[in-house]
Amino acid sequence: MIDFLKNMPKAELHIHIEGSLEPDLMFEIARRNQISLPYANEKEVRNAYQFNDLQSFLDIYYKGANVLKTKQDFYDMTWAYLARCHDQNIVHTELFFDPQTHMDHGVDFDVIINGISRALEDGKKAFNITSYLVLCFLRHLSAESAMKTLVRAIDYKQHIIGVGLDSSEMGHPPEKFINVFERALKEGFLTVAHAGEEGPAEYIWQALDLLHVKRIDHGIRCMEDPDLTMRLIEEQVPLTVCPLSNVKLNVFDEIKAHNILELLDKNLKVTVNSDDPAYFGGYLNENYIVLYNELGMDKGQAVRLAKNSFESSFLPLKDKLKQVNILENYADESE
Ligand code: HPA
Ligand code: ZN
Repeated sequence: MIDFLKNMPKAELHIHIEGSLEPDLMFEIARRNQISLPYANEKEVRNAYQFNDLQSFLDIYYKGANVLKTKQDFYDMTWAYLARCHDQNIVHTELFFDPQTHMDHGVDFDVIINGISRALEDGKKAFNITSYLVLCFLRHLSAESAMKTLVRAIDYKQHIIGVGLDSSEMGHPPEKFINVFERALKEGFLTVAHAGEEGPAEYIWQALDLLHVKRIDHGIRCMEDPDLTMRLIEEQVPLTVCPLSNVKLNVFDEIKAHNILELLDKNLKVTVNSDDPAYFGGYLNENYIVLYNELGMDKGQAVRLAKNSFESSFLPLKDKLKQVNILENYADESE
């Protein structure tokens, strides 16, 4: 079963590219940019990765992201992630990036987007991995700052498929960004939002009704509201669930307590994702494997999760059908 999961073709829809920055590359980039890190070595970095909640993670995550300064830095980070995708049979990925984190430290939008996009183009050539980029606004910053970032992104539309919302959820409801998302939709960007990770079900309603999102990132708290759960089922709104992340950030005490398979069996459109793999102890395959090892996920559930990952992607319909067909053949051949 573990080999079946590893070799299964899959898509990833919830990965913060800055969260894929492994300690060794973080040190190498810090060295070449002459930035001093608050850690003596990679082991100390890993030891620092003990989180109580989302905020305690974000505080460390933004420090790590601050080593990134040049186009080459963004390229190298993205390339390292794509090499992992290739290893893990991820054939399509939709990546978040957080431009405000970098622009607030003097890095130009152009540097960020060109570094990441070049790596994605090379990933298509070298590994045949398709990808889209989703710009995330940091919800702890103002709506004005988000709007400025959006306006900057308009010139780069050919590289960015959509916009999302990440960072500290509590106290920063989706409604704070109504105007920004309205403008984004007018400009032709698709929309997504983190909601119902630490925040209440009400934030999921808002993301759907006020920001017109195509997917909810996390969304696992939806079950607290039966009417909302019903709506998510009826409309087949995808939830990009991140099991290892949820345990690391104490959203669930342990994988055994996670509701992902319960959501799947209720016919919610759930997918598996890694969120910030360098920080949470695993990439996409490790997330699938832990669901098998600790929640007893069976083959049928695994294939449904992978099928959902393609169907919930922003790929054109013909590509979705092609990938689902390949997946189904893979599952049949393993019988
Ligand atoms: N939630 C909110 N913000 C984030 C996350 C997350 O899981 N990962 C990186 N930024
Ligand atoms: Zn996330």
